[in-house]
Formats: sequence, structure tokens, C-alpha cells
Amino acid sequence: MGICSVPLEKSYRLLNHGPTVMVSAKNDYIVDVMAASWVCVLDIFPAKVTAVLDKKSFTRQLIEQSQKFAIQIPIAKQAEQVIKVGTQSYTDNSDKLTDSHIELFYQDNFDVPLVKGCAAWLICRLIPEQSNQQNYDLFIGEVIGAWADDRMFDRGHWKFDQLSDEMKTLHYIAGNQFYITGKGLIARD
Ligand SMILES: Cc1cc2nc3c(=O)[nH]c(=O)nc-3n(C[C@H](O)[C@H](O)[C@H](O)COP(=O)(O)O)c2cc1C
Repeated sequence: MGICSVPLEKSYRLLNHGPTVMVSAKNDYIVDVMAASWVCVLDIFPAKVTAVLDKKSFTRQLIEQSQKFAIQIPIAKQAEQVIKVGTQSYTDNSDKLTDSHIELFYQDNFDVPLVKGCAAWLICRLIPEQSNQQNYDLFIGEVIGAWADDRMFDRGHWKFDQLSDEMKTLHYIAGNQFYITGKGLIARD
């Protein structure tokens, strides 16, 4: 397995299939990760994304403090981890990440924690918009680094048709139920 760099102008493709993600952030020595479904592409280049982050989430506070965050795209094998980081808050349990079996790593020159085992990672700089954040819990980030596991995404394309189900990405409905990404289909012009 290798991690390949993804050109920022192609990084929207990492999110374009609408997966459930994990959002991570760090301030000083405090690190947190939450699950998030409401994360979207906003612009292709400069690459921008939106995330809806509830006021009660501790990860949101770390993002507001550090002005940075990461979005990572977990695979089906990680579904239980996603539920664990999405149902416990660091506010109540500072051992949340250990209890959820989350292992972190860092890319050179980026002090933002990334979750091991995911299909792809996007590091974002917060574009502060107080009115959106306060009124709609809507956060905008500019993507400043993007990487993918080259078994799953390579040269600008996802490779889901060549992957086992446990390595496909997740789509959350409710009540712990996910769908995994299905078969590819190329439509005629
Ligand atoms: C699959 C899933 C998707 C979720 N999507 C979101 C979301 O888009 N926005 C949000 O604010 N919370 C979402 N949550 C809830 C947070 O992940 C949850 O409140 C978490 O405990 C926050 O952790 P923290 O307080 O440590 O940051 C989701 C939870 C799950 C299980």
C-alpha cells in the first residue's frame, strides 16, 4: 500500500461520490475526531468544502481555535469506528479515540491529525464566516493538502470496481445503518 498525493484541483473527486466522513482537528495537544455526513464539495479550484458541525461537538471547538481541520473518508471495515466517534463526545470522554481504536498519523508540514486506515484525507484551512458558523453551523474550508490510498484512488479516479466490499466507502442513513458504494456505471453522452 502507498499513499499518493492528489492534485488539489482533483481533490473534489475524493468527496464527489458523497461518502460519510470523519472530521479531525487539534489544538495544542488536544485531538478529536467526529463522524460527519453533511460534508460537501463547494468548489473545484481553489478546492473548497463545506461541513455542518453542531455546536455541541468538541471537534468544532478545536476547529474554531486552530482554524484547521481534516476530512477523511473511511472504508466499510471502519464502520464501527465511525459509529464510535459519532456517538461519543470528547466532552464526556477524553479517552474517546483510544476507546474507538482510532490511530492517528501526520503528513509532513501539516499539524493536523489524520486517521489511519481511511481511503483518503483532505486537510483544510478554515475560511472563517462567523454568520454561517453561528446561524447555520456551516463551516467552509479551503483544501490545502489531499492524499489517497492508491489501492482505492489513483490518477484522479476511484477504483471501487476492483475492490472488495470492506474497502469501499460508506454512506450513512440513520440508526447505525450504512450503504457501501456500489458498482460503477459510465453513461453514454
Ligand atoms: C454516521 C454519523 C454521521 C454524523 N454526521 C454529523 C454531521 O454531519 N454533523 C454533526 O455535527 N454531527 C454529526 N454526527 C454526530 C457527531 O459525530 C457526534 O455528535 C460526535 O459525538 C461529536 O464528537 P465530539 O463532541 O467529540 O466532537 C454524526 C454521527 C454519526 C454516527
